[in-house]
Amino acid sequence: MLTVLDNPLVRRDITFLRDKATPPDRFRAAMQRIGTALAVESAKFLGMRTLRVQTPLEETEGYAIGHDVILLPVLRAGASLVQAFIDLMPEARIGYIGLSRNEETLAIHEYYCNIPALTPESLVFVLDPMLATGGSMCSTLERLQERGAKRMVIVSVIAAPEGVKRIETAFPNVQILTSTLDRGLNEHGFIVPGLGDAGDRYHGTV
Ligand code: PRP
Repeated sequence: MLTVLDNPLVRRDITFLRDKATPPDRFRAAMQRIGTALAVESAKFLGMRTLRVQTPLEETEGYAIGHDVILLPVLRAGASLVQAFIDLMPEARIGYIGLSRNEETLAIHEYYCNIPALTPESLVFVLDPMLATGGSMCSTLERLQERGAKRMVIVSVIAAPEGVKRIETAFPNVQILTSTLDRGLNEHGFIVPGLGDAGDRYHGTV
């Protein structure tokens, strides 16, 4: 299922991201704020367990996160969302997967994979600002399924309908959260109107 954030602050920040004149420092700051909004929204997928807590006055009911939370940023661009999620979900364990997309053939190359041991209680938030053709994300979800992942949530900043459809078809049980759904892909597989290459713009390697 697809969830698109509807928030004026996020829309303003996406505009900063889109603007090709935005320098890396402002790009990073806007990404951090959008990441925080996405992390807050992601919390709706978290299960809770109840516990007892002793206040200074009496014992009462309290809550803890019921899932084993795993953050899996897809390098490089996914690094831009990690800190916002750690800030809100400090219980999380963190893995990394490194993928690059050949810009001519769109073939996916996996150059790094370090996923923490998963349990039936694991809930994996896959962090990647861009969901374009969906190739990188399908590859990541397949890798997670091989490792036994049962619950996965995709967290993106900008998504193309083509990528969303591909995920919904191949992984109907995976939730997709994004902050904006763009018009589509151009002939090179880039999201339009988009924001360019999030990894390059965040890391200042344009
Ligand atoms: C970009 C982006 C996603 C992927 C999306 O990464 O960050 O990971 O492409 O495209 P897809 O949905 O068509 O697979 P890129 O390969 O440019 O690497 P980078 O993050 O290191 O810049």
